[in-house]
Formats: sequence, C-alpha cells, structure tokens
Amino acid sequence: MMQRIIEITEDGSHTLCVPELNERYHSSHGAIRESRHIYLEAGLHHCVKPEVNLLEIGFGTGLNAFLTLLDAERSEKTVTYTTLERYPVSLAEAEKLNYCKLLDPSREGSFLQLHTSAWGEWVEITPFFRMKKLAADAGRLEDFRPETLFDVIYYDAFAPGKQPRLWTEEIFCRLYALSSPGATLTTYCAKGAVRRMFQSAGFRVERLPGPPGKREILRAVKLM
Ligand SMILES: C[S@@+](CC[C@H](N)C(=O)[O-])C[C@H]1O[C@@H](n2cnc3c(N)ncnc32)[C@H](O)[C@@H]1O
Repeated sequence: MMQRIIEITEDGSHTLCVPELNERYHSSHGAIRESRHIYLEAGLHHCVKPEVNLLEIGFGTGLNAFLTLLDAERSEKTVTYTTLERYPVSLAEAEKLNYCKLLDPSREGSFLQLHTSAWGEWVEITPFFRMKKLAADAGRLEDFRPETLFDVIYYDAFAPGKQPRLWTEEIFCRLYALSSPGATLTTYCAKGAVRRMFQSAGFRVERLPGPPGKREILRAVKLM
C-alpha cells in the first residue's frame, strides 16, 4: 500500500491521508463527526434488532468499529462485526490515532485490541462486541462466504473516482444477497450513478442530509 500520513480534521480527530491517491479515510470536516452521522446514526441506529450482524467494507483506522463497540455497550445491543480490509493500518499507525483520547481514554485497550486481534478469527473484544477481520478484497465478494446474513452494512470504500471497481452494480447485487430482510446499508457517497446502482440491485434508497461538508448521504434498505 502507498504511504499514509496522519491529518487533523475539523472536529480535532485524526484521519489518514494517502497523498498518492489524494484520498482521505474520512472527511476533513471531522472524522468522528462523519463516522457517527453516517454509520452510527443513519445506519446502526436504524436497525431495531437487539443482536446485530454487521458488515463493514474498509476497516481502515478502526474508527467505525470503535464507535460501534462503544455504542453497543451503551445501548446493550450485541454487535457481531465482520470487516474486510485489503491494506491494514499498522499497530504503530493505530497507536498514534487520537480517537481514544477524544472519545474515552479508559478504552485504549479495546481500541488497540481491534488492531492487534488475529485476522480471520472471531474475537470477543467485549461482551457486547465480537469481531472478525478479513484480509480480503472487497472487489471479490464472490469469494466471501459469511455464516449469516447482515442486518447493517457500512459501505466505506475509497471514493468511486479513486476505486471505481468497488462501486459496481455487481458488488451491490452481492451485498443485497448478503443482507437480511430489512437490512440497512449506509455510505457517504450520494452520487446519482451510485444511487441508481443500489436501486438496480434491489435496495430502496433514501438520500439523507449529510454531516458538515457533505450535502447528502445514502441509506439503502432491503425491504422485508
Ligand atoms: C474510506 S477508508 C475506510 C475508513 C474506515 N472505515 C475507518 O473507519 O477508518 C477506505 C478503506 O478501504 C480499504 N480498501 C481499499 N481497497 C480495498 C479493497 N479492495 N478491499 C478491501 N478494503 C479496501 C482501504 O485500505 C481503507 O482502509
């Protein structure tokens, strides 16, 4: 993978930038604010089940996973979290990220465990949060055979302009097939072409107001 550097976003939280792609892992208007808005509030909280099977595309810094872990404890929901990542962040990079300092300094152990836990195995990080990280290519979902369907999907790949092969109708059809009835998928990308591909795959798609710096985001729902 290319070189990555840490940047501070407008809410004070870190993100990673890949200069070669001119691409950031989060919005420069606030990484924590963006993750909470798109994946927690529009995605996870839209699911009313007490036990949630969740799939994330792009584990990256682990910020979505960490916010979900904290949220699962607060709401006493059990989250089973599967995440796909092709270019893992190193422990040395993860140790420099300021998410624990901003969110809950006492939980640094859990945050680092997200990064140190073995790949390809279920790991119980807390009684409310178990996780399996897969070192897999999200562009090859045909090779991905999960044990269960997913209730919530965080679609957090790099932007379509940078990684067009991860924004195809074929991938969205595979995600539809991997979703449980009533499942919710959220993503930061609200481009018309992406919205239409989610619709063609079978999802009902809503455009929702985005976090600061982003007019709209998408929520795609698999109807019951
Ligand atoms: C927008 S960032 C995700 C941010 C992440 N969810 C977080 O909370 O930090 C996109 C992520 O997708 C990963 N990625 C890029 N290509 C991939 C691929 N083909 N398969 C799986 N993950 C990929 C990148 O390494 C990066 O971690």
